[in-house]
Amino acid sequence: MQNFEQFLLDNLPKSKSIHPHYEEALQEMLLAGGKRFRPALLLGVVSAYNPLMLESAMYAAYAVELLHTYSLIHDDLPAMDNSPLRRGKPTLHTVYDEVTAILVGDALNTYSFEVLSNAPFSDYTKVKLIQELSHNGGLNGMVLGQAIDCYFENRPLDIENVEFLHKHKTAKLIAASLKMGAIIVGQEELADRLYDFGIDLGILFQIQDDILDVTQSSEEAGKLTNNDEDKNSFVTLLGLKESIVEADILADKLTKELNNFDEKLKKSLSELLTTYINRHRG
Ligand code: IPE
Ligand code: IPE
Ligand code: MG
Ligand code: MG
Ligand code: MG
Repeated sequence: MQNFEQFLLDNLPKSKSIHPHYEEALQEMLLAGGKRFRPALLLGVVSAYNPLMLESAMYAAYAVELLHTYSLIHDDLPAMDNSPLRRGKPTLHTVYDEVTAILVGDALNTYSFEVLSNAPFSDYTKVKLIQELSHNGGLNGMVLGQAIDCYFENRPLDIENVEFLHKHKTAKLIAASLKMGAIIVGQEELADRLYDFGIDLGILFQIQDDILDVTQSSEEAGKLTNNDEDKNSFVTLLGLKESIVEADILADKLTKELNNFDEKLKKSLSELLTTYINRHRG
């Protein structure tokens, strides 16, 4: 992922204006790091089938990370989860103000598609990628999940609706990352299979995130934990033990599916996926 970090540094969002801190704020959460899980998934698929395309795939990996970073900045706003800490740093609305955090989020969201539109792919591939990212990150994807997450605070949902929530707010972007990798290397059939795998992986990722919310300190997580009491999190609904059981079931299913991947894909993704599939066990 070293190349990805370099690509990010070379392509940081920039502006030229009289604003005293807009530019700094634009870059702050990107530079703060994070796990870069979604870019790693996308690049892992590309690396399996056509390593020569890795350099061009950076544009798409970065686009996903930009959109994800925007979602975190907005997620932390007082109107949403009201969190003072993200990626080990004070959140933008606490360092600057809410207006800055809202507008930086907006800017990263649109910059994501600007980056994608500049990628060195055919127009056909670019449109496909833009469709995937907008569909899964936007009004019927992550944003819908966030809307439901926030509206139903203190209004308990049944488990089916919680899965719908997790699928939208988190899993769709993770699934899209894998699928976008497959689109880049022209593996269109694999794209759908990877998307389905990614939905399960993303639901597991959010269950783990809910588990870590109650088992990690804010310092360990680099973000405010013990902050999900009002939420329809798996742990709030099922309790910690039962959530771990659910995570185990999904983890075992994903491990089996991973073992059925073709050799190239297995070789490229096994290490990353095994780490994340077992994250709640660590
Ligand atoms: C946090 O995502 C939000 C969720 C979808 C659970 P990550 O856990 O990937 O956050 P970063 O990118 O590492 O900061
Ligand atoms: C947020 O879920 C998912 C996003 C789409 C940003 P959470 O609210 O649980 O994420 P964290 O725990 O703040 O990272
Ligand atoms: Mg949230
Ligand atoms: Mg949150
Ligand atoms: Mg969380």
